[in-house]
Amino acid sequence: MNLEQIKESVQYVKERIDITPEIGIILGSGLGDLANMVEERVNIKYEDIPNMPKSTVVGHAGQYVFGKLNGKNVVMMQGRIHYYEGYPMEILALPIHIMKYLGIKTLIVTNAAGGVNEGFIPGDLMLIKDHINFAFTNPLIGKNEEDVGPRFPDMSNAYDKDLIQLGEKIGKDMNIELKKGVYVMMTGPTYETPAEIKMIRILGGDAVGMSTVPDVIVAKHCGLKVLGISCITNMAAGILDQPLNHKEVIETSNRVKDKFVKLVSEIVKEI
Ligand code: HPA
Repeated sequence: MNLEQIKESVQYVKERIDITPEIGIILGSGLGDLANMVEERVNIKYEDIPNMPKSTVVGHAGQYVFGKLNGKNVVMMQGRIHYYEGYPMEILALPIHIMKYLGIKTLIVTNAAGGVNEGFIPGDLMLIKDHINFAFTNPLIGKNEEDVGPRFPDMSNAYDKDLIQLGEKIGKDMNIELKKGVYVMMTGPTYETPAEIKMIRILGGDAVGMSTVPDVIVAKHCGLKVLGISCITNMAAGILDQPLNHKEVIETSNRVKDKFVKLVSEIVKEI
């Protein structure tokens, strides 16, 4: 997407809202409930926005939700666009760019993920300290828009250290136990094999999922501060003697959503 197209999409949204969001929040599978806490809420469906692809996954509503959360102007993505849906990586950049050019400075990315670290249990929340891009492609491949960000963005601090510290402090204050670890993106849509999970663990991964990494790359490129939170919805393949399915993912995220909602809304208040 070039800057003209981004601006066209931003213009459509701007005409329909009367706040300037300062924080963007991407809600992962089963975590869309946080949007219900938004006051003075305005929803804008992705499919109505020029140039935007549509989300097709069950459990993903496919809209931006604008309004106030704990006194802060926010924009949430209730449902994200995934690479496995068949879109070219570069299109995944647009929803992030729209939020950037609407005015956000910070992006909170959340996801459902499989626990690779054997010290995790389903229902754990993990602050993401770093990631490994096992999708082996990148949303920034192609012509670089110098006005958006540099050709070769630094990823050595992709997940903002101050925000991680804030998350840890708030977790402690609220008595919510938080894990911390490395998120690994696989393309999906298959869940991983036990051998792949073993490899990911050996290479330093703590959680595995099918999203987030492209969002974070794009966010970092255009100068946003990022906080990432994974909801460990299941143990990754081969750890327990049981098959994996999307139903378990949704059931676990439903079980922990109260904890998740409390944590994220408190973080938003303190940012
Ligand atoms: N693997 C990949 N993606 C996931 C998983 C998993 O085990 N759980 C939730 N999203």
